[in-house]
Amino acid sequence: MSRTTAPDSRSFPLQRQCPFAPPPEYERLRAEEPVSKARLPTGGTAWLVTRYEDVRTVLSSPVFSADGTRPGFPALLQGQAQVLQRPPFIRMDPPQHSFYRRMLIQEFTLKRIKTMRPGIQATVNGLLDDMLATTPPVDLVEAFALPVSSLVICQLLGVPYDDHEFFQSRSKVGVSGESTAEQFATALGELRAYMDGLITRKQQEPGDDLLSKLVTEQLEPAGELRRDELLMMCLMLLNAGHETTANMISLGTVALLEHPDQLAALQENPELLPDTIEELLRYLSIADLVTARIAAEDTELSGTRIRAGEGVIALLAAADWDPGVFPEPERLDVHRGNRHHVAFGYGVHQCLGQNLARVELEIVFSTLFRRIPTLRVAVPVDELPYKHGNLAYGIHALPVTW
Ligand code: HEM
Repeated sequence: MSRTTAPDSRSFPLQRQCPFAPPPEYERLRAEEPVSKARLPTGGTAWLVTRYEDVRTVLSSPVFSADGTRPGFPALLQGQAQVLQRPPFIRMDPPQHSFYRRMLIQEFTLKRIKTMRPGIQATVNGLLDDMLATTPPVDLVEAFALPVSSLVICQLLGVPYDDHEFFQSRSKVGVSGESTAEQFATALGELRAYMDGLITRKQQEPGDDLLSKLVTEQLEPAGELRRDELLMMCLMLLNAGHETTANMISLGTVALLEHPDQLAALQENPELLPDTIEELLRYLSIADLVTARIAAEDTELSGTRIRAGEGVIALLAAADWDPGVFPEPERLDVHRGNRHHVAFGYGVHQCLGQNLARVELEIVFSTLFRRIPTLRVAVPVDELPYKHGNLAYGIHALPVTW
């Protein structure tokens, strides 16, 4: 028999208590109410989905739409509704979604990303040289995690890194659970104006970068992209390209330092690096709240009736800690060897930048702990400023010493 409503809708997002683990309530939900109603901070409700198989169903079945323009699409952040009116392709369904994604896919293949390795390694080396030349404590987010990810995506896109303070501060507003609708609108307006100016510059003087390529090959009248579409696409790439990876770098560093046996295993056997990255991605599942969808038709999931037009949030951290798929999920285990996590999502919207993110994380973690073997967090880990309620979980600042 199917349930149609949950008895009481809880407010959402739920808070993490251990900085690494998903909110403890996920475990109970997965066992007792795998599809349960929650109140969203922007008003309205959505179904929370917590079982691994259900999360994969939501992310891969056309019954669950990613179309942000559908009335009632679940928004977690104040002001997000404005973006959803004319969203970038992460919030579109095929065939519209495939049209835009196809334009970019060549730039993110494993082969293409491999060619970026020497450049990324040089960036990481340079930032660590600068950091080691200062007196600790140093904020690892500001001195290392954010610059690595920003420099890499800026280079790929053709965005001047000198503007990083401008776009990082505005992007921060755009992913924060604490921003008001007005702050969100102002930040978005400024980012749009900035990107619009950059597109004009690339039209006048194209370079050897992705934005120039899109401007010269895809922008109308010769190409198929309208200016506002190109603009939103590039803002999404800039934002997705630096926020998430920076969060993984800072939080991943703390996770490894807090598990010295796992870090030692990695240092003794560097071949464990790819598995370590996968395990950190699973364990931290920082994009837990990103995967919102809306039911396109009436359906049923784990015995619960979901009606057309109802919002659904496929909780990635809940799926990645499902003990049926990842035994003892609370153990960070660099030997786990299970790469079937959903930290990059699943289905047609699976992260376009995952090859790039993996390469950045591999270079970062292998170089950071080799260059600074005595690295440690300078304050109690419980007192670090965690990004609760943000679309991508992470740490605002990470004082480290050595
Ligand atoms: C999509 C996570 C890094 C670009 C996604 C999705 C997740 C995710 C979960 C799926 C969203 C959904 O289904 O609604 C992450 C994590 C990262 C990361 C955890 C870092 C560790 C990057 C990087 C880029 C990027 C470096 C580079 C540009 C994108 C894009 C999409 C996406 C463009 C939309 C894909 C589509 O809709 O087809 N990411 N991401 N991401 N990500 Fe990432």
